[in-house]
Amino acid sequence: MIKSDIQKLKSKKIAIISDIMLPSQANANGNVHGGEIMKMMDSCAGCAAMRYSAGTVVTARVDEIMFHYPVFVGQLVACISEVIFVGSTSMEVVVRVYAETMEKEGDDGILALTAMFTMVAIDKDGKPRKVRPMPVPEEEEELRLYQMGQKRYQFFKEKRKNQQSHGF
Ligand SMILES: CC(C)(COP(=O)(O)OP(=O)(O)OC[C@H]1O[C@@H](n2cnc3c(N)ncnc32)[C@H](O)[C@@H]1OP(=O)(O)O)[C@@H](O)C(=O)NCCC(=O)NCCS
Repeated sequence: MIKSDIQKLKSKKIAIISDIMLPSQANANGNVHGGEIMKMMDSCAGCAAMRYSAGTVVTARVDEIMFHYPVFVGQLVACISEVIFVGSTSMEVVVRVYAETMEKEGDDGILALTAMFTMVAIDKDGKPRKVRPMPVPEEEEELRLYQMGQKRYQFFKEKRKNQQSHGF
C-alpha cells in the first residue's frame, strides 16, 4: 500500500471491499450482472461514509454509474470508495471498481466501473445528522476530487430546491 493510501485510511475517508465473482452472480455467458456489482458499490460507499461520519448513513443519490469493461466469473473484484467532499450532513463519495484475473503477478486489474454516490448521515430517528467538516486538501489529485464533489453538491442542492418547489 502506498503512503497516500495509508494516510487516507487513517483519515477514515476510504473503504475497500474485495470479493471473488461466483457463477450464481452471472448470466449464462459468465458475465457478472451489473446489479451484483452495483450492490457492492453501494455497500462500499456506505462503509466509507460510515467510517468518515462515525455512524449510520443512507444512500440519497447515485449518479454516473459507468460500466467501462465487463466483469467475469472467477475474477477478483475490488471496490474502493472515497469521501471526496462533505456538506453539512451529506457526503459525496466516489467509487471505483477494479477486476483482476489473477493470472499473472503484478496484474493490478482493470478499472471496470465507476460511480458517484451521495450518502447522508442519519441519527437513531432517521433524521440527517451533522458530519465533521472536511479540510480543503492540499494534494493536487485530492483537491481536484474535492472541487468536483463540491460542484456536484452545489448543483444537486439547487436542483433539489427547484424540484421541491414544483412538488416533486
Ligand atoms: C436522505 C434523507 C435522510 C434526506 O432527508 P431530508 O429530510 O430530505 O433531509 P434534507 O433535505 O435536510 O437533506 C439532508 C442532506 O442530504 C442531501 N440530500 C438529500 N437528498 C438528496 C438527493 N436526492 N441528492 C443529493 N443530496 C441530497 C441534502 O442536500 C442535505 O445535504 P447537507 O445537509 O450536506 O447540506 C431522506 O430523504 C431519506 O431517508 N431517504 C431514503 C434513503 C434510503 O432509504 N436509502 C436507501 C435506498 S433503498
